Amino acid sequence: MSVMKDTDLRVLTVDGGARGHGLHCSIRKSPRVSRAFCTPGNGGIPDPDRRSVKDTDIDGIVRLAQDLQIDLVVVGPEAPLVAGIVNRLRAVGIAAFGPTADAAVLEGSKIFTKAFCRRHKIPTAAFRIIRNFEQAETAIKESGFLVVKADGLCAGKGVTVAKTEAGAIEAARALLVDNIHGPAGSSILIEECLTGRECSIMAFCDGHNAVLLPPARDFKRAEEGDRGPNTGGMGCYAPLPDVDDALLARIKDEIIMPTLRGMAEAGTPYHGLLYAGIMLTKQGPMLIEYNARFGDPETQTVLPLIESDIVEYMLGTLELSGLTKLPPLKLKPLVAVCTVLASNGYPGKYETGFPITGIEETSSMKFFHAGTVRSPALVTSGGRVLSCVGLGENFSIARERSQRGADFATFSNKFYRSDIAANA
Ligand SMILES: Nc1ncnc2c1ncn2[C@@H]1O[C@H](COP(=O)(O)OP(=O)(O)OP(=O)(O)O)[C@@H](O)[C@H]1O
Ligand SMILES: [Mg+2]
Repeated sequence: MSVMKDTDLRVLTVDGGARGHGLHCSIRKSPRVSRAFCTPGNGGIPDPDRRSVKDTDIDGIVRLAQDLQIDLVVVGPEAPLVAGIVNRLRAVGIAAFGPTADAAVLEGSKIFTKAFCRRHKIPTAAFRIIRNFEQAETAIKESGFLVVKADGLCAGKGVTVAKTEAGAIEAARALLVDNIHGPAGSSILIEECLTGRECSIMAFCDGHNAVLLPPARDFKRAEEGDRGPNTGGMGCYAPLPDVDDALLARIKDEIIMPTLRGMAEAGTPYHGLLYAGIMLTKQGPMLIEYNARFGDPETQTVLPLIESDIVEYMLGTLELSGLTKLPPLKLKPLVAVCTVLASNGYPGKYETGFPITGIEETSSMKFFHAGTVRSPALVTSGGRVLSCVGLGENFSIARERSQRGADFATFSNKFYRSDIAANA
């Protein structure tokens, strides 16, 4: 694609969250980019850059990209990727950063990915594929596996890590009998429960090669001490002191590279950003899941650590082996801590429309917007409202900066976890 050589690029980011704000900020700074847009964006995106087409409206995004004469579309969330937005954009001659639908299946079907891991000997939890409730009941009792997962996309709500056999059977019933996630849960997995620390490994992929971003760790539970309900992510830190270069190389060799080889052999090479959720077990790193896109809050945590121009690497993913022409990713000698500011009640019901003040940034502390809107003053509009990212030479400095920002930002019903990266 000619876009590889171009400067003066016009880039459209498709995302409404803090991940999208983070991507837009990095893309705007690229010397290759003359104009950057974001849709649907949020109150953090400057008005002239912002458009209002929703990320699920694929026809609308294709039309918008054509109207704006976009050279490269960067897709944030999984739903449009799995639905084939990259195929649709390519069909009208517009380059898109992300996998085509038949490669995004690595996120779109957890059953596909587990069977793929088995074929390619990629380390992952033992599992059974289940098609009906009777089968689930028998298999849970026989195997003792307590992790229950819907096959398809459930916006982060399709996984239950049960404590008891009865709990696992209930979770299977909710999916297979009560259809709480509709067709996404009509086939399920049951898995062995792994123990260890988790890490998020994100990699630019060009079908054959991978360039890994700094490893990150997110905090999914709503309350301090990892209690309370699961959320989209309440905080994050990177890079990880417990994931050194040797371990990173092992994750690349044992998990990422066999995946790229397997996908290429199947005629569905993986281009874009591959996110591996990894459990660091006593037996070594094991794959928990793949996502076909950047993580949130991992992205807004990791991007400020990258010295290189990420647009170069996004362009490098478009052609087979396109990344081999690029130098290794250059990182700043810093660490990052991200604290997510949310509305009381999130991930359940919450109120919105509260004025936001006190979000002055410094060179080492930045706010990325999620549920905010300008009307015309800045007000809250979502569950996760802001990500406050502190940078520093070590975690105690970065953490203090992130927390100072989180504390200083003011809106009614604000809550955040103050224990992010406490044990980094
Ligand atoms: N086999 C397992 N053993 C132990 N914990 C697990 C296992 N599988 C999943 N989990 C836990 O459940 C969480 C969610 O699982 P998974 O990442 O597969 O779901 P997801 O809904 O696709 O998540 P995301 O929204 O991050 O994409 C994991 O981060 C991990 O904490
Ligand atoms: Mg997932």
